[in-house]
Amino acid sequence: GFWKTTWRITYGSVFATLIYAGWSIYETRHPRENQSPPDPTKKTLVILGSGWGSVSLLKTINTSNYNVVVVSPRNFFLFTPLLPSCTTGTIEHRSIMEPIRGIIRNKESDVTYYEAEATKIDYENRVVTIRDHSTEDSKDERQLKFDYLVVGVGAMNSTFGIPGVQDHACFLKEIPDAQKIRKKIMDCIESASFKNLDDADRKRLLHTVVVGGGPTGVEFAAELQDFFEEDLKKWIPGIAKDFKVTLVEALPNVLPSFSKQLIDYTERQFKAEKISVLTKTMVKKVTEDTIIAEATRPDGSKETLEMPYGLLVWATGNTVRPVIRDLMANLEAQKNSRRGLLVNEYLVVEGTEGVWALGDCTATKYAPTAQVAAQQGSYLGGLFNQLARAEDLEQEVRALEAKASQTAEGSAERKSILSEIESRSRRLRRSKSLLPFEYSHQGSLAYVGSDKAVADLTLWAEGNFASGGRLTYMFWRSAYLSMCFSMRNKILVLTDWVKVKVFGRDVSRE
Ligand code: FAD
Ligand code: NAI
Repeated sequence: GFWKTTWRITYGSVFATLIYAGWSIYETRHPRENQSPPDPTKKTLVILGSGWGSVSLLKTINTSNYNVVVVSPRNFFLFTPLLPSCTTGTIEHRSIMEPIRGIIRNKESDVTYYEAEATKIDYENRVVTIRDHSTEDSKDERQLKFDYLVVGVGAMNSTFGIPGVQDHACFLKEIPDAQKIRKKIMDCIESASFKNLDDADRKRLLHTVVVGGGPTGVEFAAELQDFFEEDLKKWIPGIAKDFKVTLVEALPNVLPSFSKQLIDYTERQFKAEKISVLTKTMVKKVTEDTIIAEATRPDGSKETLEMPYGLLVWATGNTVRPVIRDLMANLEAQKNSRRGLLVNEYLVVEGTEGVWALGDCTATKYAPTAQVAAQQGSYLGGLFNQLARAEDLEQEVRALEAKASQTAEGSAERKSILSEIESRSRRLRRSKSLLPFEYSHQGSLAYVGSDKAVADLTLWAEGNFASGGRLTYMFWRSAYLSMCFSMRNKILVLTDWVKVKVFGRDVSRE
């Protein structure tokens, strides 16, 4: 009875998962055989960027309708939610990268890809200037004409012009950032163990300061403390008494975008993990080995703090890229925007025609998250498919009209053509009536260390569900695993998690 049914369901699900995994792996290894080459006679759609927004668009769009050209200095998609785990080796960086080449080889029609950076968008002449990015010092620039343009170049790390940050801090946005941090952690630890180092210097080297208590700063601090508790302490016991992580946040609490209950949970959790949290503390200056911050005391008075550090991770959010700033300066409708490109409800850049923007390079009412960028990307993919359908129908209607004009008035053939025109015109009107972009918030997740996570979930129309703890961490893991780009990514991430459970993290320096 019951057990037999349960067994059958389990057996069936495992079998279905294996078939699905097998098929996905086969697809990854075998690109489309009947892929047609790019067709330059079609309208040229240039897509800038290979991040959440652009790749989600690329996944959804039927590339046989356009001559699609992708331009990005990064020839892979990066699954950013697991980037903080790469700083300590919990996840190996290649596990969360998906080559753009693989993505485009599986599209209906081939896509041209240039590993390049867009340096100027000339809207007047509908030209993008791109600079070769295959070598560090390349100055090779080319012009790219477009009919349609989608801008998905993301954002840069903000420093608010605070002196010393650009020169001395590590950021956490791209793979090289995570690699640099991973190396620097071990650098500091090995240097701190050097012969006869004085006490103050050893303490400084073992002190990591994280600036910015948003999700990036919180997740990194949590990952680093885990690394210390689970591995470093075991293999290098000499550092145990002085190792310290401090999180500095200008606002009165960390994770400002989460619910109060989860903010409190995170702060309690950090206390238990011995991560010190300094809120209402604004960093003002950074030198080679010290940060200078201004703390607001409970009575409202100010105090200047000097904190020596070995590793400084700067995670204070986003700012606009130069190429976007330049475009904004050249469009009257964008003159008053500071945070990024203003777009209308169809994601068309204000003040333009045939130029769309999505993700972190835009200034909208939504937070700059992967969730928003991905939904905008699939919306735009659908919109381009719809536009192509409308264009095809328009041509068909025109051809039928020409045919009708050559047939005898009142003939049966003419009647049938006219009724066909009517039906296609109806479909054309439907294809032309575009729906605006609507964001559906699924919730926010963040890892807070010691196998615990926090989740603010939207479960029903108006209701929210907030939870924190180990069970939420299991949910965090399964949610991120299911969101990984490909089956290859899913398997690699899962393997990394198992590897770390079995062998621990690697404490070698490279
Ligand atoms: P990006 O994904 O940043 O992509 C921009 C692309 O443009 C890149 O390919 C870049 O190489 C390319 N590019 C840059 N300059 C140029 C140029 N001049 N010309 C052409 N191409 C260019 N969000 C969540 O919702 N959930 C999370 O858990 C989460 N975790 C995160 C963790 C970290 C550590 C970070 C840094 C961010 C996280 N985010 C998360 C935020 C999320 O990653 C961003 O909101 C998202 O990447 C934005 O997508 P995008 O396509 O606009 O930009
Ligand atoms: P953020 O903008 O969310 O947070 C930056 C924090 O730095 C702010 O709280 C700000 O008050 C603080 N700050 C700014 N200047 C400061 C200073 N001088 N001294 C001290 N503190 C200062 O930035 P973050 O965390 O990089 O996130 C960027 C975007 O990516 C956000 O939209 C976030 O939601 C998203 N993201 C989401 C994640 C998740 O859902 N798990 C993980 C990482 C990022």
